[in-house]
Amino acid sequence: MPALSVFGAQWGDEGKGKLIDLLAREADVVVRYQGGPNAGHTVVVGREKYVLHLIPSGILNPGTLNLIGNGVSVDPLKLLEEVDGLRARGVRVDGSNLRLSALAHVIFEHHRVIDGLSERWRGEGRIGTTGRGIGPCYADKAARVGLRVCDLLEPDLCRSRLRAALAEKNALIERVHGAQPLELDAQLDRYVAIGERLRPFVADAGAEARAAHKAGKRLLFEGAQGAMLDIDAGTYPFVTSSNTGANGISAGACFPPRWVDRVVGIAKAYTTRVGEGPFPTELDDALGARIREQGNEYGSTTGRPRRCGWFDAVAVRYALELSGADGWIVTNLDVLSGFDELQVATGYDLGGQRLRDWPAHLPSIESARPVYARQPGWREDLTAMRRYEDLPLAARAYVEFLEREVDAPVLMISVGPERDQVIQRGRIQPT
Ligand code: IMP
Repeated sequence: MPALSVFGAQWGDEGKGKLIDLLAREADVVVRYQGGPNAGHTVVVGREKYVLHLIPSGILNPGTLNLIGNGVSVDPLKLLEEVDGLRARGVRVDGSNLRLSALAHVIFEHHRVIDGLSERWRGEGRIGTTGRGIGPCYADKAARVGLRVCDLLEPDLCRSRLRAALAEKNALIERVHGAQPLELDAQLDRYVAIGERLRPFVADAGAEARAAHKAGKRLLFEGAQGAMLDIDAGTYPFVTSSNTGANGISAGACFPPRWVDRVVGIAKAYTTRVGEGPFPTELDDALGARIREQGNEYGSTTGRPRRCGWFDAVAVRYALELSGADGWIVTNLDVLSGFDELQVATGYDLGGQRLRDWPAHLPSIESARPVYARQPGWREDLTAMRRYEDLPLAARAYVEFLEREVDAPVLMISVGPERDQVIQRGRIQPT
């Protein structure tokens, strides 16, 4: 019966992979409901490091069923690459532990090509996408010209719909962007063949999630990206193309919103962002570089250096409220060891006016100056600590300051990349 939602409460890369993998040990079913291969969820098990892009993080737990919901944009090439990669490392992946929604939209090569060309076209106004074809695929979905996984399974239908889609996309690629059009027959053959390989995984994922819930199974909904990249509530247009918080679950997994019992956000003890867009607490200096090095802040999907800055309580408070979070998990607390002093943005100054709440409008976010509260730092290495009482006083004071500022309790603290490097503080799982 219980269903848990876990989502990123910043701009992505909050360390969700490890925690979802940890929480998935108690889940019968793990569901991805939005995003696509733009995500990169890193899970470290012993000496092995896995980076999952499309496959839910429960795949490393034997016995867990993993569902890719209808709201995910699926690049079948990437999905099969991931399946092959996991199998090569001895992880079982088949139609019994991985199911792909027949209703999920497909990312084709032309989506990836157009993603890159559009970014080039936008020049200074570029979003800094991951280049995985996410925006163009969701755009086709909304324009009702996309193809879904079920369409790939019917060769004639697939050929005729893909032919029609490519005629228009090739015109765009060639005539607007002056780039090389894609070869029609090669594309048709390739995707029809891929459909066959996907067949064993294809299912009605929404029906499976609902049936599991009715059967009393434990479900975990795994958010990708972060709430501040939400297409509706984030820093639009510098966002991704889906609803990234608990708000995405009902549409993206065909799962009733009232069936989600517990909602938990994840945020780092500082802030990072990749790609363009406003970032009020960004440190474009030696301090930012120091956080990047100490936290190894480089993108797991694109390898890009992440922009780094202080914790932004305004953004996290907003993100947690949007999803009605019961509490949150703070990650990478260990990375902040060694700083004499830490800063936390508790509000913004907007042209002399003091704000405590997130301003919706982009120009306001861009001109917002953070109002900081100083917090004492600590020197101790936290990575071996497993009990809250073990943490240095200053680290505990920092955590307690954050939870007061974001109005939500810290339920767990992560102090390293390994599964067991966590400090439990409150109840995460639904009862
Ligand atoms: P897209 O999702 O590839 O279209 O990229 C849109 C924006 O979201 C860009 O700023 C990306 O850097 C960002 N983004 C997308 N996926 C992730 C992620 O998994 N982590 C962090 N940022 C992401």
